[in-house]
Amino acid sequence: MQKVAIGSKPLYLLLVAALLLLEGAAAQTPRQSMAQTPPMGWNSWNKFACNVSEELIKSVADAMASNGMKDSGYQYVVIDDCWQVGRDENGFIVADPARFPSGMKALADYVHAKGLKFGIYSDAGAKTCGGRPGSQGHEYQDALQYARWGVDYLKYDWCNTGKRNEEEAYSTMNAALLATGRPIVFSICEWGDGKPWLWGKGIGNLWRTTGDISDYWAGKRKWPDGNCCSDGLLDILDQQVELYAFAGPGHWNDPDMMEIGNGGMTNTEYRSHFSFWALLAAPLIAGNDIRSMSPETKEILTNQEVIAVNQDVLGQQGRQTRKDGDLEVWSKTLNDGSRAVILFNRGSAESEITVRWQEIGYPGRLSAKVRDLWEHKDKGEFTGSYKAIVASHGVVMLRVAP
Ligand code: GLA
Repeated sequence: MQKVAIGSKPLYLLLVAALLLLEGAAAQTPRQSMAQTPPMGWNSWNKFACNVSEELIKSVADAMASNGMKDSGYQYVVIDDCWQVGRDENGFIVADPARFPSGMKALADYVHAKGLKFGIYSDAGAKTCGGRPGSQGHEYQDALQYARWGVDYLKYDWCNTGKRNEEEAYSTMNAALLATGRPIVFSICEWGDGKPWLWGKGIGNLWRTTGDISDYWAGKRKWPDGNCCSDGLLDILDQQVELYAFAGPGHWNDPDMMEIGNGGMTNTEYRSHFSFWALLAAPLIAGNDIRSMSPETKEILTNQEVIAVNQDVLGQQGRQTRKDGDLEVWSKTLNDGSRAVILFNRGSAESEITVRWQEIGYPGRLSAKVRDLWEHKDKGEFTGSYKAIVASHGVVMLRVAP
């Protein structure tokens, strides 16, 4: 008897562990099981706005598959607004036949044949922001059509929604997408108005936290129609500070698509942009013309060490640990217990910034190895703190490992 009891103990523990695992899996909604790390890809809007076509999408897919982006982890090729023109006699959404003469199925097949994934855009209102047909009242029909085409990602906007309730609208489209049986990553785009970080987990895989980004460093600017306003990079960043607790695998805060390479900022500023999107565990959706980018832009978008911070499986969003006027320290805990750290200088002159181990959750007496993720260099082993000179509007991005 004794022998059996002792012998079966490991088996018993194994059973308990298996049950706990099963319970954990059941607690995760089907939605949350997608996008376990922040989605990476490209979207047409920031550079091309309504000027989309199958030629553009095919050439972007060609570029992504061959220029090192796919090898760096970029996957989704997403057509934003203005691909759709109407509905057919049965109510199915119709793509612009002049711009997409081969149809969406053929385009999705083309993107898939490159080893990439295909994304599309719609809106929870009667019309999209660009005035094209939205999905309101057609959610299940649209989701079905997307699945038939082979869509892998849906960005779902919030224009022309009247008094519609946000949680209801996004839950309805989520249910419609799940009902197709095809895994389609769901990107909630209601600009943070209804605080989607409070209800979006389990409904969407990512949610915009702000209004639209624009390609400049700081401040707000009116739209051409006089309405207020687009956000510069710093304005977007400042709106992320309080949100770190709400992100995790399958449910990410989205500070909007990237502007890197679009020409409105310096390369130093674009390096800061990419470093922050990585540290914030933000979706890395390029928004430039990746077919003709400069070597500097490509080097930024494909920095493997910075991307590894973004794609870390723990899925923690980094946070601001110190703000001394224009000088800041940000930190993200990684799965192996190391920290990704950003020393950030908003000021107009270069400055020295120190990160103290205690402010990133390490004992002050600890000796830790420091690696610079933009220089790609080990800097040595340091006790208690590390300091560096940081360029104006620039970052020094580090990995600190005990
Ligand atoms: C909104 C979104 C943008 C883009 C446009 C398209 O402004 O926030 O990202 O999708 O609509 O019209």
